[in-house]
Amino acid sequence: MTAPQRVAVLNGPNLNLLGERQPEIYGHETLDDVRALCQRSADAAGLELDFRQTNHEGELVDAIQQLRHSTVGLVVNAAAYTHTSVAIRDALAVVTAPVIEVHITNVHRRESFRHHSYLSDVADAVIVGCGVQGYELAIARIAHLAADAARSA
Ligand code: DQA
Repeated sequence: MTAPQRVAVLNGPNLNLLGERQPEIYGHETLDDVRALCQRSADAAGLELDFRQTNHEGELVDAIQQLRHSTVGLVVNAAAYTHTSVAIRDALAVVTAPVIEVHITNVHRRESFRHHSYLSDVADAVIVGCGVQGYELAIARIAHLAADAARSA
């Protein structure tokens, strides 16, 4: 029997405060709600879930490196580091599995410093402005790509 395939979801700084943090912008769901949503999506797709959050840039880099050979896809909401981090970009550029950048809000409708992402052009897809449903969409897309890859292997 082959081991179940794993999808990883990485969350950056301040996302641990979802629900409490500017709910008029980010909504009322907590990070635990997002984790549960991701778990349901992963279960539905027959994938294992590795769900993490950190406030530290280097920990995101470490997690990406650690996961680079062991997942069928990475969902990344690097939060504010999206707009600042060449280190996270460089780490993601090494990942051969699909990478999907997710933002809860439509960053293009917000302050201009949020319009630029260091990650988008090394990501395979970008989902913004779908609320926390963006995570669900990203996992469904990764499952689809993993099934395609398995068929053509
Ligand atoms: C965010 C958007 C970022 O600009 C912001 O710094 C965040 C959250 C989002 O999910 O909408 O922390 O990534």
